[in-house]
Amino acid sequence: MQSNSQKTFPQFDLGDVILREKKESDAEDFFHHYLDPKVNQFILCEMPVDVEQARKDIAYWRSLFYHGSGIYFAIADKNTDKMIGAIGLSGYNSYQKRIEISYDLSPHYWRRGIVYRGLACLVKYAFDQFGVNRIEASVATPNTASKNLLIKSGFTLEGILRQHRFHKGYFCDVYFLSLLRDDYNHMIYKRHESLYKRLT
Ligand SMILES: CC(C)(COP(=O)(O)OP(=O)(O)OC[C@H]1O[C@@H](n2cnc3c(N)ncnc32)[C@H](O)[C@@H]1OP(=O)(O)O)[C@@H](O)C(=O)NCCC(=O)NCCS
Repeated sequence: MQSNSQKTFPQFDLGDVILREKKESDAEDFFHHYLDPKVNQFILCEMPVDVEQARKDIAYWRSLFYHGSGIYFAIADKNTDKMIGAIGLSGYNSYQKRIEISYDLSPHYWRRGIVYRGLACLVKYAFDQFGVNRIEASVATPNTASKNLLIKSGFTLEGILRQHRFHKGYFCDVYFLSLLRDDYNHMIYKRHESLYKRLT
């Protein structure tokens, strides 16, 4: 059995981008990425206020993997290794066998299918490595792009949680979506069979 410090952080090649571990040297890119209002407007958690805070946030997101409570990847441009987004799993509940998925990407890279491919990869990772039964996602109700992305990826919209998150000074409504292992086995795998095969 591996101790936490011996665990090897995985890396995935998605063609034009890679999913890799976040590094301390990402701090500048991390900070500027979350400074962009197009990126941060719908991200329902606190943003770093400076590069030093970004460095601390990176350490926190990295620690999820070593503590076994999740895994958070940098999305990096394969040509430059620059961090252009993030995608990951957090809030692992080992008894209820649930985990939450979230992601973001720099606007310059939008609509190239990058997060769609990243989601397929992380969904497989969640079911295979964490052994969960259910993957959950919450999306601010104005964020149509993210809701559509999840539905295209096979998630089911379960409803709206009213004023569920405090975000930028307001309590905001969120869509709650999920993907069950049953969905994955019986429907999603069939629909995305060729994509999943390329990632294994
Ligand atoms: C939401 C986001 C992650 C989408 O990433 P992306 O890599 O551009 O998405 P993809 O190219 O993989 O698109 C996959 C599907 O998502 C949906 N989608 C993506 N962008 C969309 C948009 N602007 N409007 C409507 N649907 C959109 C579409 O269904 C799309 O499939 P299609 O291209 O066949 O129509 C990206 O816009 C983003 O980072 N937004 C800011 C941060 C954010 O909202 N994070 C999520 C918080 S819950």
